[in-house]
Amino acid sequence: MDVEELKKLVAREALKFIEDDMVIGLGTGSTTAYFIRYLGQMIERGQLEDVYGVPTSHQARLLALEHGIPVVSLDEVDAIDVAVDGADEVDPSLNLIKGRGAALTMEKIIEYRAGTFVVLVDEGKLVEYLGKKMPVPIEVIPAAWKAIKEELEIFNARAELRMGIRKDGPVVTENGNFILDAWFERIDDPLDMEIELNTIPGVVENGIFADIADIVLVGTRDGVKRLER
Ligand code: A5P
Repeated sequence: MDVEELKKLVAREALKFIEDDMVIGLGTGSTTAYFIRYLGQMIERGQLEDVYGVPTSHQARLLALEHGIPVVSLDEVDAIDVAVDGADEVDPSLNLIKGRGAALTMEKIIEYRAGTFVVLVDEGKLVEYLGKKMPVPIEVIPAAWKAIKEELEIFNARAELRMGIRKDGPVVTENGNFILDAWFERIDDPLDMEIELNTIPGVVENGIFADIADIVLVGTRDGVKRLER
């Protein structure tokens, strides 16, 4: 089974958490894209009624609209029942690194508020400690990017300004900010690091999601493994 099949497997499994009348946080990325597609199919077949999606990005919103999922914004709902999203790394305590898609700030705002936050990954994203394979994306106010990059050296992190692939110059987030990708040697205390990074003036949000995930569905060659906090 290739990685795409594993993503589909966990995306299908996540549908088990969805019931009629729910408000669902819709994550960003390639794994959640499958979930959004399958959710739309269930609505189309009449298997789900009165569900609404709160998108974490333009990508999630456009996909939801394409697949017939009614979309509302965070300020239109009283609560989010379930949020479903992918991640870049998951440690043994279910702390996450997210933000490869630069949508980390809205993702965290929505997922923090969800009654249940379900994370979808393939087994290659399980790591012994955060920072092992991936950098921590940090959304920063553009004018502060260089000062923050230098300040990150205090944390023994080497940071790079994320540049566009099909765009000249830096990636600009949906909030109009830049992204610094910070490579740490090892993050031993994710909650502490998450809080510390957010105290730097000019940092809007960072991609460490400590103590937020409730359930992680892991796609493996032997099926879906469910990890719970
Ligand atoms: C978006 O900003 C990210 O947080 C994604 O949710 C994360 O990178 C996982 O994406 P994939 O499912 O595409 O790996």
